[in-house]
Amino acid sequence: MKGLVLSGGTGSRLRPITFSMAKQLVPVANKPILFYGLGDLAEAGVTDVAIIIAPQTGDEIRHAVGDGSRFGLNIEYVVQAEPLGLAHALKTALPFIDGDDVLMYLGDNLVKHGVADVVADFESDRPNCQILLTEVEDPTQFGVAELSSGGEVERLVEKPSNPRSNLALVGVYLFDQTVAEAVNAIEPSARGELEITDAIQYLVTTGRRVRPSLVTGWWKDTGRKEDLLHANVLVLSDLDGRLDGEVVGGEVRGNVQLGAGSQLVDCSVTGPVAIGRNARLVRTTVGPNTAIGDDCRLVDARVESSIILNGSEIHGWSLRDSLVGRGSSLRGGAPANYAEVTLGERCEVVGE
Ligand code: DAU
Repeated sequence: MKGLVLSGGTGSRLRPITFSMAKQLVPVANKPILFYGLGDLAEAGVTDVAIIIAPQTGDEIRHAVGDGSRFGLNIEYVVQAEPLGLAHALKTALPFIDGDDVLMYLGDNLVKHGVADVVADFESDRPNCQILLTEVEDPTQFGVAELSSGGEVERLVEKPSNPRSNLALVGVYLFDQTVAEAVNAIEPSARGELEITDAIQYLVTTGRRVRPSLVTGWWKDTGRKEDLLHANVLVLSDLDGRLDGEVVGGEVRGNVQLGAGSQLVDCSVTGPVAIGRNARLVRTTVGPNTAIGDDCRLVDARVESSIILNGSEIHGWSLRDSLVGRGSSLRGGAPANYAEVTLGERCEVVGE
């Protein structure tokens, strides 16, 4: 089985952070989202992998991931000239798939239990397609599956305005070689994309066996800031504490990771929290549910339920539910209360 990881697209729902970085490289608990999926593929034994990249962000992804050897994968890259849909991405990768089975994994998705079980299921049961489903509160944001009373897939609709089921498609799909026929047969949808839901619907309609399986454990699509912060909470809650840096005074409670070369001086840190390498925090209160990247400088600050990317500086501000892009800074007369901010890369906020 080959692996196909979709890391193209525009990331428009995560602007401004995605003006200057690929959304799949935004970190959750200090690790790029994409790396979780690559780890899942390696764990499932799917080692020949292509990553779909967009011309705008592809180089950054190539640079971050490389040839895949550090994940135990052989990775190649397939450029999708325009984000014309998930089925278009798969169609673009047909020469790589070359008639093999394929596991398609959306590069902005996180699946708690990985994909090893579902790969094993697919390989023993040999359906033409296997999809993962989970119940969601707002199905209008997702591809939605309608099942018969016997549990068979009857209909798939992409982001329906009047959903007839609350079963959303998770961004992990397994196909045998019939998927090539499906992506070649379908036409662009009303929004101009080749939809993977239409390709799977084609398989259903032409009598192929599409097997649904329910996801156990959480699943997260990190397309929006709220989802990203929630994913951060979920991943952090599974982390073990580990202090490789230095704690000088102050207090550290709960599961806290402190990277090598980092220093906490008179800080109060309440896990779960992850702090990267070579960061320096002074008289700062952190946590819970917070990730602070490498090389950050925080002085007299308070940060909770937030993601702060590498190289950022916060002086005197209190942040909650915030996303601060690489190399940004907040300083000067800060608001008295917690602020909620979303900053892109190298932004400067100076209070009054
Ligand atoms: O997360 C699950 C949902 O993912 C499914 O329920 C939907 O059926 C499916 O269409 C998809 O919806 P999204 O709106 O979340 O898709 P998004 O545009 O965010 O793209 C998902 C990933 O695929 C993301 O990493 C970008 C990449 N992509 C997207 C498009 C449209 C590509 O590589 N090429 C593309 O053309």
